[in-house]
Amino acid sequence: MSVANEDLIRAATEARKNAYARYSGFTVGAAIVDDQGRLHVGCNVENAAYPLGSCAEAAAIGAMVQEGGRRIVKIAVVGGLGDIASCTPCGGCRQRISEFADDDTAILAIDDSGEWQEYSMAALLPASFHLP
Ligand code: THU
Repeated sequence: MSVANEDLIRAATEARKNAYARYSGFTVGAAIVDDQGRLHVGCNVENAAYPLGSCAEAAAIGAMVQEGGRRIVKIAVVGGLGDIASCTPCGGCRQRISEFADDDTAILAIDDSGEWQEYSMAALLPASFHLP
């Protein structure tokens, strides 16, 4: 079971449209394909109490887990604003993704113009922390 990169990117781009980024103006969408070939999406949700805001990846992971998904095969993250070319996952989200990923899990970072870069989990979070 596989989902084409283009379809995953389209799902993340659609999710991004619902982002609530009232304070930063930086909207992000994420889409996951799990090991059953299912899609799960999320967007960032900010809050007037800034630290309470949550990232798009966290929402997509939450959607996957509540539907019974436990492995991320591929994740696309769409974001960008001005000089910030694309939205590679923040440090916290790298750890969040890593919980459900393997070293070779694909992470696609897509900018506003639709250009994308593919990274492996191991490249974005080497020597990652896991509990047995
Ligand atoms: N953001 C994400 O949704 N994912 C990331 O990996 C990086 C940052 C969001 C959080 C905040 O709402 C906005 O982007 C600016 O940091």
